[in-house]
Amino acid sequence: MKFAERAQQLQPSLTLAISAKARDLQKQGKDICSLSTGEPDFKTPSFICRAAAEAMEAGHTRYGPAAGEPALREAIAHKLQTENKLTYGPDEIMVSNGAKQALYTLFQVLLQPGDEVVIPAPYWLSYPPMVHLAGARSVVIPTRQDRNHQLSGAALAAAITPRTRLLVLNSPTNPTGTVYSEQALAELANVLRQHPHVAVVSDEIYEYILYDQSRHVSFGAVAPDLAERVFVVNGFSKNWAMTGWRLGYLAGPQAVLAKATALQSQSTSNVCSFVQYGGLAALRGSREWVHTMVEALAQRRQVLLHTLDSMEHVHGMAPHGAFYAFLNIAAANLRSVVFCERLLAEAGVAIVPGAAFGDDQAIRISFATDMVTLKRGLKRLQGFLAKL
Ligand SMILES: Cc1ncc(COP(=O)(O)O)c(C=O)c1O
Repeated sequence: MKFAERAQQLQPSLTLAISAKARDLQKQGKDICSLSTGEPDFKTPSFICRAAAEAMEAGHTRYGPAAGEPALREAIAHKLQTENKLTYGPDEIMVSNGAKQALYTLFQVLLQPGDEVVIPAPYWLSYPPMVHLAGARSVVIPTRQDRNHQLSGAALAAAITPRTRLLVLNSPTNPTGTVYSEQALAELANVLRQHPHVAVVSDEIYEYILYDQSRHVSFGAVAPDLAERVFVVNGFSKNWAMTGWRLGYLAGPQAVLAKATALQSQSTSNVCSFVQYGGLAALRGSREWVHTMVEALAQRRQVLLHTLDSMEHVHGMAPHGAFYAFLNIAAANLRSVVFCERLLAEAGVAIVPGAAFGDDQAIRISFATDMVTLKRGLKRLQGFLAKL
């Protein structure tokens, strides 16, 4: 079978593949500690599950508006206004099958062959394939650990060409856990003011998962004057442990959102109707459950940071958000894929190679797993490193 050119290089998501491999090995009876997962190990709060079940019983089981249930879009608009200082009407919001589909759809309607998309590295691994599927080219800009893995205004300015169409920002960031401050975002906004042909998408999927005194700031709130070319992507997967529900959203200028909705109506129709009522309950509910989850994650992060202090061959910045540590393994003198393969085979620990995120001298450890598995996994990693 001959594939379309755009599909020829397409590979499955490495993070999903590694988690699946770890699960397979566990099923075969192998003792595997998986520190690879990109999802909280918590159950979706029951008030959200109940709301979706009640919606199903109440008959929300049919096709709905392609852009999403009006009540949910209004609740999202309210949330963006009150929590993020972003003003969007319901017709500037589209509910999607996860944040992933929001990004995919946006890229499909904005990008075309010849366009360039600036992506700071390390990046979330799905951005470049999505850019490629839209016919455009990723321009990857490495960031430095000693600068908290954040894109500077100067680096952005140097990357922009007449072909640049989009900048992808992600804060809190997967995989590094960096959180952009208001000042850091303002610096990027200043550069973008000089380049009116460049739009921005701000992926805020880890917005509530913050540690110490970190504060989440939306790019759009820092630069309201750029609203005509700013898009926000967010969702329910990480903040409410709803990864399997596939519920996210895109907000931005109405004309683009109308096009994105048209694409959705021609491809997936609407997001599962009753799932959207779960999302509505999440937004209308208190954030108490989220705070409890983040506190538990914070304790695991402490354990991780404490153990890392005594590990050989690895170093990295303490994550300020999300639930990953991105560690430099240059001293181990192994390519990241080889490192991870050996760690799995020799020590039974699954983690993700940095190559998947654009840095082959690093590894990503997830601490979104129970404390027992985390401690066992770290102990094994420690033993593995000591033997290298
Ligand atoms: C940075 C980032 N953006 C988007 C997503 C996709 O989230 P969703 O489950 O809502 O599609 C992920 C999931 O891992 C992510 O890490």
